[in-house]
Amino acid sequence: MSQPALSRTLLTRALRNAFDDDRDADTFALRLDRYGPELSESLQAAYGEQAQPLLAELLEVMLHAFHTRPADLRRLDEARLLNPDWLQAPDMLGYVTYTDRFAGTLKGMHDRLGYLEGLGVRYLHLMPLLKPRAGENDGGYAVQDYRAVREDLGSMDDLSALAADLRSRGMSLVLDLVLNHVAQEHDWARRARAGEPTFREYFHIYPDRTQPDAFERTLPEIFPDFAPGNFTWNEEAGGWVWTTFNTYQWDLNWANPAVLREFVDIILHLANRGVEVFRLDAIAFLWKRLGTDCQNQPEVHHLTRVLRACARIVAPAVAFKAEAIVAPADLIHYLGTRDHHGKVSDMAYHNSLMVQLWSSLASRDTRLFAQALSAFPPKPTNTTWGMYVRCHDDIGWAISDADAHAVGLSGPGHRHFLSDFYSGEFPGSFARGLVFQFNPQTGDRRISGTCASLAGLDAALEAGDPGRTDDAVRRILLLHAVTLGFGGVPLLYMGDELALLNDPAFGDTLEHAADNRWVHRPRMNWALAADAQASPATPHGRVNAGLRHLIRARQSLAHLHASIESRPVASPDPRVLLLRRDHPLGTFLGVYNFSEHPVHLPAHALRDHLGEHARDHVAGSAFTFGGHDVILEPYRALWLTQS
Ligand code: GLC
Repeated sequence: MSQPALSRTLLTRALRNAFDDDRDADTFALRLDRYGPELSESLQAAYGEQAQPLLAELLEVMLHAFHTRPADLRRLDEARLLNPDWLQAPDMLGYVTYTDRFAGTLKGMHDRLGYLEGLGVRYLHLMPLLKPRAGENDGGYAVQDYRAVREDLGSMDDLSALAADLRSRGMSLVLDLVLNHVAQEHDWARRARAGEPTFREYFHIYPDRTQPDAFERTLPEIFPDFAPGNFTWNEEAGGWVWTTFNTYQWDLNWANPAVLREFVDIILHLANRGVEVFRLDAIAFLWKRLGTDCQNQPEVHHLTRVLRACARIVAPAVAFKAEAIVAPADLIHYLGTRDHHGKVSDMAYHNSLMVQLWSSLASRDTRLFAQALSAFPPKPTNTTWGMYVRCHDDIGWAISDADAHAVGLSGPGHRHFLSDFYSGEFPGSFARGLVFQFNPQTGDRRISGTCASLAGLDAALEAGDPGRTDDAVRRILLLHAVTLGFGGVPLLYMGDELALLNDPAFGDTLEHAADNRWVHRPRMNWALAADAQASPATPHGRVNAGLRHLIRARQSLAHLHASIESRPVASPDPRVLLLRRDHPLGTFLGVYNFSEHPVHLPAHALRDHLGEHARDHVAGSAFTFGGHDVILEPYRALWLTQS
């Protein structure tokens, strides 16, 4: 029996009389034909003989969600089916912010959407806002109830209303979906502690240290400072609970099909509330296997394929973004390889790009950058990178020893240098970062700080030095020129468009004091936003105007469609990064000077890629490559196309 026939049989058998409307029945059946085979194959791979009954349960969940999907969202589904590359369009632009720090409440957000529209935002990621545990909650990543909103922000109805307003303005609502763990106050964990066997099975709870010790042998530590180890003794549960992150975040047991069913239900419920993109938080950690680091296990990709197939059947408007901060060879599987090619997440964070931006900025050398990018396997053409200069988390120096070695560096030595540089300890460093989670075993020191403070604006303003201030402004714009010119969804982190500095008062909030990632999660400064636009000559105004200019220039550049890859090509000068995109419309060459010095580039280095004549879309100027060198000003970015 062919796979589509299997899904049809299931449909007719289990769901007879499920539809009043023939067209609905047809739509559902067509989608099931399309995604049913992936669904059953991956269920089989992850759950073996439990797959068949699970499939029947999932069908029920999907049918319910399909029937209750609001009309305007169904319309969006149709629109997306006509426009499947919506996340790849050159004018996609993401913005990431905390609702309370940006607008107070969900209702308050409506008044601020004009600002985001003005920036060109099409994709709005509101940081965790589902009901977290009270007190410390890892910035909302310890969820107590996936069907309720944090009380001080508003209600589920407010969320739906905001989603609708965003949709009417062509912006998509993006929410975190914390899949790996729940807060210990979540009903499932509460019932597990109360001894209900069904719910104990939702978690990994061990009566003694035998299993935890066996796992610990190969497990890394995520928060060695404030949550060492991966297991926490819980007296009430009478066992060691798996807690990869903080002790109050209980890892879920995804080998239990009931957990999968719960999350299909949650995803579809939120999708029907208007969530368009789910950020799959800490997705790498879902499947545990003894003797491994319990990350990137093959089952993770099967589970993602199942979740995505269910979402595509009920709500094809919905997309998935993988938050997998892992090595490139592991990362590519989140976008799909072989049977999963293009069938798992639609988008993934390009963590290496971010790390290499800061690495090159510190060393004034782009050879490692080019090396790291060239080691990246090509991604499926229907998927998209999310590029960012920094995010709400710390920066970990994810630089492989092999890449470092290939350009004559020592991996540990360079990582050490970067930590020194960005914590400001390195002599002559322009940066003002903080060390996050020093791990004495590995020597790792991760870094917190806003883009502006890491790029030197703090120190320059304090010194009152116009030359250094100018350099800092140029650095901020250079970093964004790379992310905006890379192809994919550039993600602007709130405040970076204004060059907001580190928040020195982050520790005044008791729950944040121990976690210095809050230094780069400031409150929006609306007075500065108004001032930056009114006074484009101030440092904040220059960054703002420069970014708005880059965003506008990018919107009309068809060459930046995300189906095409940016590839590093040989550069005649280590200070300059060359990224080439081969679009059917012609070649695009990004040229980026990572130093505070003017660089003379021999004309042939650009002519070889572009021919005699080119146009720079950043400055809007024309180039003719003759015999003379092209002089690149300090930290200058060019987006060249053939003309
Ligand atoms: C992700 C989030 C991070 C959080 C962790 C645990 O990595 O980005 O902020 O601490 O997941 O949920």
